[in-house]
Amino acid sequence: MTDPIGGIRACVFDAYGTLLDVTAAARHCRADLGDSADALAAVWRAKQLEYTWVRTLMGAYADFWQVTGEALDYALDLHGRTDPALRAKLMELYFRLDAFPDAGPALEALRGRGLRTAILSNGSPPMLAGAVDSAKLRPLLDHVLSVDPLRLYKPHPSVYQLACDRLDLKPAEILFVSSNGWDAAGAGAFGFKVAWLNRAGSPPDRLPAEPTITITGLADLPALLGA
Ligand code: LAC
Repeated sequence: MTDPIGGIRACVFDAYGTLLDVTAAARHCRADLGDSADALAAVWRAKQLEYTWVRTLMGAYADFWQVTGEALDYALDLHGRTDPALRAKLMELYFRLDAFPDAGPALEALRGRGLRTAILSNGSPPMLAGAVDSAKLRPLLDHVLSVDPLRLYKPHPSVYQLACDRLDLKPAEILFVSSNGWDAAGAGAFGFKVAWLNRAGSPPDRLPAEPTITITGLADLPALLGA
């Protein structure tokens, strides 16, 4: 039987939710947010993504830092917490999010065994640089790629093409890893091999292009790749 993920030369990762823990900002503000911390984090993330899709369809790109701030404004407003100091604190925490504990070791194992690694993210270049540096992932990545020069968000196919262009690889030579089912679907429809990182045990999204493989943690990857 042929290996469904044979011939991979690089692993390209989504950033927010895949390598970086997007719930960390609200969690670190639990003293300020109390019981609403988790609900606020969920609305913040949902609106952030919704705004990227709507802005792309509208042809009204604004960078991910602005979109993230506007989504936070909505979430704070919804919870009756329009407090500029709290907003500033949450944005500062988002700028230097924690990495998931399995991110660094997986990147190190993949690179140690000859695979190239990259991020391909909606994040603006400054916020990606801030998060990657504070999470100490920079030395483990060959490329940190942002959608920003394209002024389009995932899952537009041009975004995934950017990774092929910058890594000089064919789509089938790239394993794209994302915890976001819609991003996994977009990457699969483009032609990447895809690992859907289902950390939360979610049901599969009902979208075209099923993932090539499903994993529950990044620690699964090196062995699956024979790396
Ligand atoms: C990113 C978002 C989609 O990093 O998680 O691109």
